[in-house]
Amino acid sequence: MVEKKKILSCIQPTGNVHLGNYFGAIENWVNLQEGYDTYYGIVNYHAQTMPYNPAKLRELTWDVALRLHACGIKIENIFIQSLVPEHTELAWILSCMCSYGELSRMTQFKDKSAHLKESDKDYFVSAGLFTYPVLQAADILIYKPHFVPVGKDQEQHLELTRNIATRFNSLVGQDFFPIPEALFTKVPKVMSTADPMRKMSSSMGEKHNIDMFADPAKITKQIKSAVTDSGNVTYPDMSPGVENLFSIMKATGANELYDKMINQYKAGTLRYGDLKSDLAEAIVEFTKPFRRKLDQILSDKKHFKNEIKKASYQTRQVAQETLKNVRNISGLI
Ligand code: TRP
Repeated sequence: MVEKKKILSCIQPTGNVHLGNYFGAIENWVNLQEGYDTYYGIVNYHAQTMPYNPAKLRELTWDVALRLHACGIKIENIFIQSLVPEHTELAWILSCMCSYGELSRMTQFKDKSAHLKESDKDYFVSAGLFTYPVLQAADILIYKPHFVPVGKDQEQHLELTRNIATRFNSLVGQDFFPIPEALFTKVPKVMSTADPMRKMSSSMGEKHNIDMFADPAKITKQIKSAVTDSGNVTYPDMSPGVENLFSIMKATGANELYDKMINQYKAGTLRYGDLKSDLAEAIVEFTKPFRRKLDQILSDKKHFKNEIKKASYQTRQVAQETLKNVRNISGLI
């Protein structure tokens, strides 16, 4: 039997699970479960790098874990990072294989620290935010994966991970860590419905994202208030707001509807009101099975939380094995 190649990816528990997360990452993760040995982490240590509330962090960690399962990620492939504390010890060792200069060049660090400075006069940029990419390298390397499916925004962190792995290998004089490759899968671009120039995200607030698990009335209301244009943009041009609504429609698989409406757009007969109500319906239909699955999970929450804990302990064994070897070959007693 040939061994399956390994895949790892992670998500931060910093907000709700929305259409941008689903079409941008989770849908792909679900598909990769066929044919690969997959590890999907909820990285709660990472969520501590920005100002946070402890009770809220715990709640969000479970929320995201249970929702990943509702989206189709098998329980055995899910782990919670803090249940595998070996990540942090490996991060320490790897932090000594990574330079201050390299970390200073990380654009996510620059963006996030600038954002903190803008939004809060008593801003606090933690050392954790600075060393975050090393923890990410540890998240990855501890499972020795071949591929890491991520968005383009993570390219720099992946490159750093590869450099760290190479340095470690040269320190110990063996190819201990396989050099992981980023997997940039083509995914639809899902933008904020309130500001279609920016990526859909939970951090900008409720009106910017469509929750995968929101009830139909809420989804409909949000789509109806999505930003479009005042009808002054016509084919072959398309405003970012309208383009976004079309790309969400396509992502839900409502192909006939999509073709029909695109033709109307080309002919100049499309009414945005119709586009929105039909899109809302398509999203409600598409998300229905996920809502059902989540209801079922939440009605037996304790059981599912326990299953995720068990899966995390299984995953931990893989991490422990790697760390044991790392300690040995890197000169620790
Ligand atoms: N940095 C990633 C993000 O902001 C999250 C992340 C943490 C991650 N550890 C990872 C992604 C390991 C892939 C692999 O989205």
